[in-house]
Amino acid sequence: MSKPSHRGHWGSTAGFIWAAAGSAIGLGNLWKFPYIMGSNGGVWFLVAYLVIVVLMGMPIMLTEMAIGRASHRNPVGAFAAQDRRAAPIGVMGVVAAFVILSYYSVIGGWVVKFFVSFLTKGASPEFGVFIARPVEPLLWHGVFLAGSVAVCWHGVNGGIERASRYMMPALFVLLGLMVVRAVTLPGSVAGLRFMFHPGTSEFSWTSIPAALGQVFFSLSLGMGAMVTYGSYLRPEARLVRKAVIVPLLDTACAVLAGLAIFPTVFALGRSPGAGPSLVFLTLPEVFGAMPALGRTLAVLFFLVLILAALTSAVSLLECVVSFTIDEWRWSRSASLLAVGAVVFVQGIPSSLANGMLADWKPALFGGRNFLDAMCFLTDNLLMPVGGLLTCLFIGWVRGPRQMGDEIANHGAWPFRHYRAWAFILRYVAPVLLVIVILAQFGAWKRS
Ligand code: TRP
Repeated sequence: MSKPSHRGHWGSTAGFIWAAAGSAIGLGNLWKFPYIMGSNGGVWFLVAYLVIVVLMGMPIMLTEMAIGRASHRNPVGAFAAQDRRAAPIGVMGVVAAFVILSYYSVIGGWVVKFFVSFLTKGASPEFGVFIARPVEPLLWHGVFLAGSVAVCWHGVNGGIERASRYMMPALFVLLGLMVVRAVTLPGSVAGLRFMFHPGTSEFSWTSIPAALGQVFFSLSLGMGAMVTYGSYLRPEARLVRKAVIVPLLDTACAVLAGLAIFPTVFALGRSPGAGPSLVFLTLPEVFGAMPALGRTLAVLFFLVLILAALTSAVSLLECVVSFTIDEWRWSRSASLLAVGAVVFVQGIPSSLANGMLADWKPALFGGRNFLDAMCFLTDNLLMPVGGLLTCLFIGWVRGPRQMGDEIANHGAWPFRHYRAWAFILRYVAPVLLVIVILAQFGAWKRS
């Protein structure tokens, strides 16, 4: 293993935490979590979600960070350093990151377009018309991707860390402002009721795989992002605290997002939903109908989305370029230009999926268009499979002892929960992840 010194390092603990939280906090927190919570039993779901974050999210995030830090390598090199036969797990991660980035950037482009429209014209474009255009969404995809490349260009410390340290606290402040405005609207209580009401009947057995899948997606697990960020930690960094704080920040943001969105939607008599239709159809309508501050709130909201999506995209991009830098010995700038170009091209069919390619819904995609098929493939299959393989590999092939020693910094820090962690890695997480994966096959066929 060559010396890690030519690679970047995080400048500070807080810098790492904001960057990792930036990866975790993304569109999933803002447009998925609140709705899943509201439609799966409110507080009951929140309790189950928190239990899963603690039992699975934190231990697996800890493991991924430790795998990265052990070798100071990109995901492929990091897994290979543990055991050559494990390299494919890293390859899967890098491929997943590449595919996610290609469509994440397309959606990021939509967000930028909406932000600019609200800022300059005070109104949103017509969503269905805009995304069906052949060229314009592609240009915004390019703008968003160029922004991610620009952040990574300045390296780990000067680029990613510096950007995250401004963007993530700003995101929390803006979200806080939105929450204040939302809960002071007359009629906002209905939104709080929707989100939190203890709906025992809606909390069913399908809520558990839903919560598991959401924890996984939201924490950016199972695909090398946390391995990559962990690989830039200094050898003496304490891992356990970091793997506790990042999931807590992520969960706090998800709940805040719900508090900002649902009271507003209900106060104006609209019905909630999730995903693109919530963000690009319902909310713009709600902002337009608000008696006061609608435009300001719209601008703030899309700015929050940009910050969330950009810091996630940066971590995806870094995951891929860390591979070309370490393994192919490309320079950072050449890597970014080449990967950026390929990601842009890969994003083209996703961008056209709601226009020119709208009718292309092969049976292989389960009747979905290209964009939805890519989302499904990565979020619902590649990520849980990557997580499962990681747990099985460390838990059973490599054995938890080695990694436990790494987490304890070879005895420098106590790792008090070692036995619980090892038990989760070997038994709890694999069983739960198999359930998630099986649940996905049902979902695939249905549509
Ligand atoms: N966690 C991000 C979100 O909530 C999405 C995501 C999934 C992600 N996997 C990732 C982001 C890997 C960066 C890296 O939207």
